[in-house]
Amino acid sequence: MLGIIGGSGLTRLDALRVDRQELVATPYGEPSAPLTFGHFDGSPIVFLPRHGGAHTIPPHKVNYRANLWAMKQVGVDRIVGMAAVGGITARMAPGVLCVPDQIIDYTWGREHTLFETDLDSVTHIDFTDPYCAELRQTLLTAATEPGVVVNDGGTYGATQGPRLESSAEIRRLERDGCDMVGMTGMPETSIARELGLCYACLALSVNWAAGKTDGPITMAEIERNLAAGMGEARKILANLAGA
Ligand code: HPA
Repeated sequence: MLGIIGGSGLTRLDALRVDRQELVATPYGEPSAPLTFGHFDGSPIVFLPRHGGAHTIPPHKVNYRANLWAMKQVGVDRIVGMAAVGGITARMAPGVLCVPDQIIDYTWGREHTLFETDLDSVTHIDFTDPYCAELRQTLLTAATEPGVVVNDGGTYGATQGPRLESSAEIRRLERDGCDMVGMTGMPETSIARELGLCYACLALSVNWAAGKTDGPITMAEIERNLAAGMGEARKILANLAGA
């Protein structure tokens, strides 16, 4: 079954026909919100708003372990993580959607692994290709039919937040090869892999990253681009649910 983790700008899926909600208890505490079971365009999905139903949980406080564990527990095997990002390279202008294929982790101090205690042996997951190739392809195909333009591939730099970056930090990320910057990609992506879940990200650029334009980044700009772009993202998700 398909799971969708909604990010900023996607705390609800309008076209989702809700069947029921369930707060799943996990060994890691509570997920961000009850899981919503429903039908999206006729296909069953499970939806979870990453920042909570009222958008009150900041990126560094999200219980990524509980969120993913709960999803797996109820039978989800593939997950699309929605993400609002700042654009660093030219191909990530505000309004652009992207299915990244690589990620760099700059976060710190987050509960980032399930392989910590009660181990039979020390476990190292492979993370060469951090995203599920099959689901990435399905997402890209789901975008073509409604004619939504999506970048195929790119490197997501995951920062700690909740503050935005300095322009020097963005220059560093760009030197490292990052195309976009967001605050929630890690450890969500790696915990999904630890659980054997097929995970891909659908990123929407909502601003130019720090120092890419003159002047500060405003929430008004971010919110405007979020509202515009999430409509396009929803079209992809509707098509994906049936795939
Ligand atoms: N930086 C980090 N995270 C973000 C940004 C940004 O500029 N925009 C949206 N999420």
